[in-house]
Amino acid sequence: MCGIVGYIGKREAWPILIKGLERLEYRGYDSAGVALMQKDSLLVYKKKGKVSELKNFVGDKNVISGVGIAHTRWATHGEPSDVNAHPQKSNSGEIAVVHNGIIENYLSIKKALIEKGYHFESATDTEVLANLIEDIKKNTHSNLDEAVRFALQEAVGAYAIAVLSADEPNTIIVAKNGSPVVIGIGDQEYFIASDATPIIEYTDKVIYLDDLEMAIIKDGNLTVKTIKNEIKNPYIQKLEMKIEELEKGGFPHFMLKEIYEQPRSIRDSMRGRINIQDGLVKLGGIEKYEDKLLNAKRIIILACGTSWHAGLEAKYFFEELAKVPVYVEHASEFRYRSPVIYDNDLVIAISQSGETADTLAALNLAKEKGATVFGVCNVVGSSIPRATHAGSYTHAGPEIGVASTKAFTAQMTVLLLMCLFLASSKGELSKKQMQDILSELDGIPEKIEKALKTNEEIKKIALKLKDAENFIYLGRGYGFPLALEGALKLKEISYIHAEGCPAGEMKHGPIALVDENMPVVFIANKGNSYEKLISNMMEVKARKGIIIAIISEGDTHVKEIADFVIEIPETSDVLMPFVASIPFQLLAYHIALLRGCDIDKPRNLAKSVTVE
Ligand code: AGP
Ligand code: GLU
Repeated sequence: MCGIVGYIGKREAWPILIKGLERLEYRGYDSAGVALMQKDSLLVYKKKGKVSELKNFVGDKNVISGVGIAHTRWATHGEPSDVNAHPQKSNSGEIAVVHNGIIENYLSIKKALIEKGYHFESATDTEVLANLIEDIKKNTHSNLDEAVRFALQEAVGAYAIAVLSADEPNTIIVAKNGSPVVIGIGDQEYFIASDATPIIEYTDKVIYLDDLEMAIIKDGNLTVKTIKNEIKNPYIQKLEMKIEELEKGGFPHFMLKEIYEQPRSIRDSMRGRINIQDGLVKLGGIEKYEDKLLNAKRIIILACGTSWHAGLEAKYFFEELAKVPVYVEHASEFRYRSPVIYDNDLVIAISQSGETADTLAALNLAKEKGATVFGVCNVVGSSIPRATHAGSYTHAGPEIGVASTKAFTAQMTVLLLMCLFLASSKGELSKKQMQDILSELDGIPEKIEKALKTNEEIKKIALKLKDAENFIYLGRGYGFPLALEGALKLKEISYIHAEGCPAGEMKHGPIALVDENMPVVFIANKGNSYEKLISNMMEVKARKGIIIAIISEGDTHVKEIADFVIEIPETSDVLMPFVASIPFQLLAYHIALLRGCDIDKPRNLAKSVTVE
C-alpha cells in the first residue's frame, strides 16, 4: 500500500515531507524514508519502523533542501528492513524512487539488468525500477522525464511513483497506474501525496493524475502527459476537506474519536437525502441511473473486510424490504472467477478508501461484462467513485484508524437509503411504512449517543476478558454480519483470535471450541430471533462458556443467563446493527488498549489496501 509524499518549491522540504508521512502512516508503517536534493547529490535517510523512528534517526542532521520525496511502506516485496525501505536508489546513487504498488514483471527486468552488470541490495521491485530508469537515461542520453516515461512503458503493474535525479535538481517526476496520487498546486511550489491529507494545509488546488499519466514538475512548471507522450490539460479541483478533521480532537486514539463521531457521521450521511413527512429518499448521485436500480433483477455487492460486512447487512435490507435478491461477493474472489453477469444486474462496490485494489479490479470486471456499477465510498475523488457509473458518498469524514468504525455505520446508512428508495419506488413499502422506517432511522444518532454511554461498563468487561486467547461472536439475521464484524474488529487490533458465526451454525462445529475459557459474545437484542438466541445461549452455558450478551435495554431474562450484559436502546430489527455496532467497537478498543496494542496502527495492516 505505502504512502508517498513529495515537495518542490521555496520552502523547507523536510518538515513538509515528515508531516505528510505522518498523515499517510495509515497506509503502512513498516519503514519510512526520505530523499532530499542537495546541490549535486541526493541525501537519503531511511529506517525500519514508523515515521517517528525516522525522525529520531535523522535527529538534528542537516536536512536543508527545497526538493524531496518520502515514503512510508507496507512491504510487498522484501521484509520490512532499512535496506528494503524507500526511497530506493539506482546503482550510481543518482536516481531515487518512492513507489506505492507492485511492478509485476520486476523479475525479468531485474534479470536483464543483472546481465548488464547491475547489482541489487534490496529485495524490492522498486529498486529494479530505479535501475531501469538509470539504464535508460544513460543509454538514451535522455532527461529524467523521458527515461521515466520509457521505463514505465516496460514496467507492468501498479504504481504511484515520485522520482528524483541528482543531475536535475529542480525536477520531480510523478506517475501513476492503479495506485493513487494527488498533486497540490501552490504558488510556484508543488506538493505530491498519495491522498490529499498532507496537502490540505498548504493549498486547496489539486490535480488527480489518471492511470498511465505522468507529471513533470520542472523549474516551477508542471506538465502532464500520458506515458505514450500525449500532452494532457489537467483539471484543477478544489479540495473540500478541513484540516481539523484530520486531528485527534482530544481523544487518545483516532479509533476512539471515530467511534464517538458516529452520531454525527450517520446524520451527515442522511442529510438532505430523507424526507420523513413524505416518506421519501433522494440520492442525487444515482439519479441518472435510477432505472438501472429499479429494473435490476439482482444486485451484486463487491467489497472487502468491514465494507463486505456492511454489504452483507445490505443483503438483509434489500431482500427484506425491496424484495430483490442480493449476492455479496469478496472482491478478491470475484475478480479471479468467471462470474456470470447479466445486463440487468446492478453491481454495488463498497469501499471506505475508494482505493482497495481488489474492489476496483472486481468492479472493472463487472463493468466489462456489461453491468451497471454504483459506488458507496467515503473518500471523495478516489479511484472507485471515479470508475463507477454512479454512486452515493458516505459522509463519514476522514477515517484514519486502521480499524474501520464510523465508515461501517455510514455505509449501512447509505445502503439502507438506496434500499428504501428502491423499495418505495417499486411499491414494496407504503408511504406509512417509509415514514416509520425513516423516522426511526432519524432517531438512530440519538440511540447511538446512548449506546456510547456503555463505555465504562465495557471497560470493566474488557478488564476481565483481556487475557482470553480466543473469542466467538454469534448472531442471527441482522446480527450475523455484525458477529463477523465484531470478530474482525477484535482480531485486527488486539491480535486475539476471534470467529464470527451464525448462532444457528454453532452446533455444526464451533461449539466444540466452547469450554470455561471461551468468551462467547451474543447479539441478543429483542427481535425476531430472540427466543432462538436464548436457546443458543443455554447451549453455551451448558458447556461453561463465558457469555457476553448485547441486549435491549431492560431485558431481565438474558441478565439471568449471561455472565456480562451490555444494554443498548431498543430499535427495529433492521436498525439494530447501527446501535449494536457500538459495543463491539468499544469492546475491541478496550481489550486492545489493555493488551498494550498499537490501536490506530495494528501490526501487518494498512488502511488502504492498494495491492492485490
Ligand atoms: C476494517 O477494520 C479493515 N481494516 C479492513 O477490513 C477494511 O474494511 C478493508 O480493507 C476494506 O477497505 P475499504 O473499505 O477501504 O475498501
Ligand atoms: N512493492 C513495493 C515494496 O514492497 C511497494 C509496496 C506497496 O506499495 O505496497 O517496497
